[in-house]
Amino acid sequence: MNNYHVISGKTDIYAILGDPVSHSLSPVIHNSAFKYENLDKVFIALKTGKENLKLAMEMVRTFSIKGLSVTMPLKEEILQYLDKLSPEAQLIGAVNCINNENGILTGYNTDSRGFGLSLLAKYNRYPSIAFVFGAGGVAKAVAVELAMNKVKKIYITNRNFERAKSLEDKLSFFKETNVEVIQWEDVKWNNALNESDLIVNCTSLGMNNKGDLSLLVPWDKVRKDAIIYETVYEPLETTFLKKARSLNLDTIAGINLLIYQAAVAFEIWTGKVAPLKIMEQSVVNFLNSKEN
Ligand SMILES: NC(=O)c1ccc[n+]([C@@H]2O[C@H](COP(=O)([O-])OP(=O)(O)OC[C@H]3O[C@@H](n4cnc5c(N)ncnc54)[C@H](OP(=O)(O)O)[C@@H]3O)[C@@H](O)[C@H]2O)c1
Repeated sequence: MNNYHVISGKTDIYAILGDPVSHSLSPVIHNSAFKYENLDKVFIALKTGKENLKLAMEMVRTFSIKGLSVTMPLKEEILQYLDKLSPEAQLIGAVNCINNENGILTGYNTDSRGFGLSLLAKYNRYPSIAFVFGAGGVAKAVAVELAMNKVKKIYITNRNFERAKSLEDKLSFFKETNVEVIQWEDVKWNNALNESDLIVNCTSLGMNNKGDLSLLVPWDKVRKDAIIYETVYEPLETTFLKKARSLNLDTIAGINLLIYQAAVAFEIWTGKVAPLKIMEQSVVNFLNSKEN
């Protein structure tokens, strides 16, 4: 592997679009993977809002940008600028990864497959009953992945009840998965939590230490063999994860979803197996260096 990568006129360009993007970890992850695999590719962040998305997508086509990551607030808005959608992106109605193959732009939702792969990597199976906190973008990706893999039942609870109902509507496509929406009140969660072998935090509670889902969960109702899955990755250990670990429950941290969704994107863009360990180490090093 060369330690020094010369960016030349032939270097393939990849970018993340969204606003804000200056905090994004995607450049850190993808550049470390490109470098490790000795690929003549570079990944940059391009701040883009809804108001200049049309122009940005014209630039993507004009300059043959090879691939994009897409973040807030563009994951749904961007669909109108694409030529094709993968099945999961179509079902979810949101895209976080785009591949440009000879001018044909195809949208994917790698949060969905990334979530599934992160579960399989540790447990080699899907749960039979899942409990999802939240009904936003990541909750949709998680729920669709669970339903695509024929999970028997998914409970969904969300502060905004209507948003949870609209996710339930989306999931009605899957005939083998029963979906039940529960009001955002801890007493209503008791029975459902007690049945669930996977519990996923898809809310932003805990992100940057704001809000704390662990204070709302009736932990005595959580099964001892349940897997507790956190999607928030900053901080790397949220209070929700800390509490679950203190009760000796099995946990998966948000960094796993971050790495696996990036790995799926890397594989779409390069056709190569992603260097997972290198990608993970790049994030840990970067976040640790920010703290110091
Ligand atoms: N690990 C990864 O790779 C990865 C990928 C994507 C996202 N994430 C994380 O997932 C989280 C959600 O992202 P998203 O894209 O789904 O965002 P989103 O579409 O904006 O959804 C936010 C969700 O959080 C809920 N929420 C926000 N504040 C709340 C509060 N104070 N009390 C209760 N619920 C609250 C919202 O409920 P309402 O509908 O009631 O507002 C909604 O369900 C973020 O923290 C993000 O960091 C991680």
